[in-house]
Amino acid sequence: MRCINLWTSVVQLRFRTMGLTGTAALLLAILPVTGQPVASTQPTGWQPNPAVLTALESKNTKWVYREAEVPAYTLPEALVCADGTKVTTRQQWEQKRRPETLELFEKYEFGRSPKAPADVRFEVLETKADALEGAATLKRVSITSIDAGKSFAFSAAVLIPNKRPTSGRAPALLLINHRNERSGDPTRQSRVEFWPAEEIIARGYAAAIFQAEAVDPDNGSTGARAKGVRGVFAGPGNPEQDAWATIAAWAWGASRVMDYLQTDTQIDATRVGVVGHSRGGKAALWAGATDQRFALVMSNSSGRGGASLTRRKLGESLRIINERFPYWFNANYKKYIDRENELPFDQHQLLALIAPRALYVASSDADMWADQRGEFLSLVQAGPVYGLYGAKTFAADAMPELETPLTNGSVGYHIRRGEHDLKLYDWQRVMDFADKIWTKPKADPGKP
Ligand code: GCU
Repeated sequence: MRCINLWTSVVQLRFRTMGLTGTAALLLAILPVTGQPVASTQPTGWQPNPAVLTALESKNTKWVYREAEVPAYTLPEALVCADGTKVTTRQQWEQKRRPETLELFEKYEFGRSPKAPADVRFEVLETKADALEGAATLKRVSITSIDAGKSFAFSAAVLIPNKRPTSGRAPALLLINHRNERSGDPTRQSRVEFWPAEEIIARGYAAAIFQAEAVDPDNGSTGARAKGVRGVFAGPGNPEQDAWATIAAWAWGASRVMDYLQTDTQIDATRVGVVGHSRGGKAALWAGATDQRFALVMSNSSGRGGASLTRRKLGESLRIINERFPYWFNANYKKYIDRENELPFDQHQLLALIAPRALYVASSDADMWADQRGEFLSLVQAGPVYGLYGAKTFAADAMPELETPLTNGSVGYHIRRGEHDLKLYDWQRVMDFADKIWTKPKADPGKP
């Protein structure tokens, strides 16, 4: 039985105001089937910058950037099982609907990753106790995964604040770095906002990082694939359908770094967040969904296939992402090109897989490609699952203004001024959020 959600739908109307010829969106929150449409309010908070819209449209008229052109859509219901059962308890979610939801994303988007390797070995290649002018200890670690007679190795780095809580363990933020090494340089010869390690250390967090491409090249050729983890561990999926793809491989890499962090006595493994931008943000979300040891997930401008709702079709289409980056996703995902409404899930369910853990979604003003409002609404729609844990997300009409972060218990959101990028501002806000939620120590996490 196909799940449908009639709880909320976003409907847009065009209207003209005095002296202005413009398109404005009207947000209608539609109550349950038995209710009546109510609350017709113009979306509050952030509005697309008209200059950005005009510039985008003059470059490319093929894509939808205006709210008024978002089609009406119906989202699959996060809390209705495939057999129609309504989920009302945590137990039903954890035992039935959550596994079912994971299966949907494995089968139709990211592919089936291999199970955790039988053996993972770590070798600390270098320890530098006076990194960052004495503020941190740098460790470079080689991580070797061994299973069924095969092995795959890559390395990660972690800068650990030398000033740590009395437990001796610092919470950590792990960046999946899909950009070049200069963007995330643990030696700090190159210092860029994309990975502001000095700032992270000054705030008391360990800054962990690995190069996504050391796990799986960001390249669709067969030769490239052979060099990455997927060339060694094929995984249980079928290449014509649901074999694991590059985003899943990067998420797998994050889990192996987590394996290491759990062994490091200077790290508080109960407080490790995984962070990613754009394609790395998609991977961070999948890492958070598949590995519950991550206590916090931050996706920055993850857009299509990440946080934003696919059915809105605003910005990057399912067609274009699959045509340009087919190797990021499994083969089944391509079957939904131009058939977004038939996808058996939408991205609010990916966010829901992170519940009740901490989840921070961020967007940027000029990044219509990632569909900022679609990212926010996805977080809104993950609300019922957070609700099972007594938590909340946000109301559909609560999208904040530019650079006005919004948090509610375990979830947070902001939209930054400027371009598609990961900036100091984004890191500062996620650390403000982590400061709030990590005020109390937690118990040791179990295995994934
Ligand atoms: C492209 C792609 C996006 C992706 C982005 C990035 O723009 O279309 O889906 O998020 O690259 O990773 O920078």
